[in-house]
Amino acid sequence: MREAVAADLPCLARIHAASFHRGWGVDELERLLSGQAARAHVVARGTGEPLGLVVSHLVVPEAEILTIAIAPAARGKGMGRLLLTHHLQRLAGLGVTASHLEVEAGNGPAVKLYRGLGYGEVGRRKGYYAGPGGSGDALVMRLDF
Ligand SMILES: CC(C)(COP(=O)(O)OP(=O)(O)OC[C@H]1O[C@@H](n2cnc3c(N)ncnc32)[C@H](O)[C@@H]1OP(=O)(O)O)[C@@H](O)C(=O)NCCC(=O)NCCS
Repeated sequence: MREAVAADLPCLARIHAASFHRGWGVDELERLLSGQAARAHVVARGTGEPLGLVVSHLVVPEAEILTIAIAPAARGKGMGRLLLTHHLQRLAGLGVTASHLEVEAGNGPAVKLYRGLGYGEVGRRKGYYAGPGGSGDALVMRLDF
């Protein structure tokens, strides 16, 4: 686990495109990660290419998870959990005391990941993901450290 660097961007854009209906391109990721308020971590095997990323936007003491994705072939092996755990530990070191996010209610693996780390549901937006890219409610989840 380490911080994302510029050389990771093409790989991270590929992972993002494979994970979301509207993936973020290299330019979008670069703009996002160069912002002072963003913190991004990746998981990789040794010195290999990243297998996943997580990005939060910080307004200390709060942080919002903007995205988390693991490459499709690497999912279900505990990497998402390891990556998010590491990310939250790093954020805590920066003075963050709460993390929140929005997730499609029907996204089983993601909801399980968040609940497993202690996130609780604090709100629900009915029909937020309705349309071509999704079909359900958005859960607003929060973890106080
Ligand atoms: C959500 C995501 C990041 C999880 O990463 P991952 O490495 O596959 O997850 P892990 O292997 O660490 O597993 C985390 C939890 O999800 C569960 N899980 C993983 N894959 C699952 C699946 N296909 N179905 C059901 N549960 C699953 C695991 O059992 C584990 O739960 P536990 O801690 O209670 O045992 C990954 O599935 C992904 O990239 N999805 C596409 C992008 C996305 O939806 N991101 C979230 C947007 S809010």
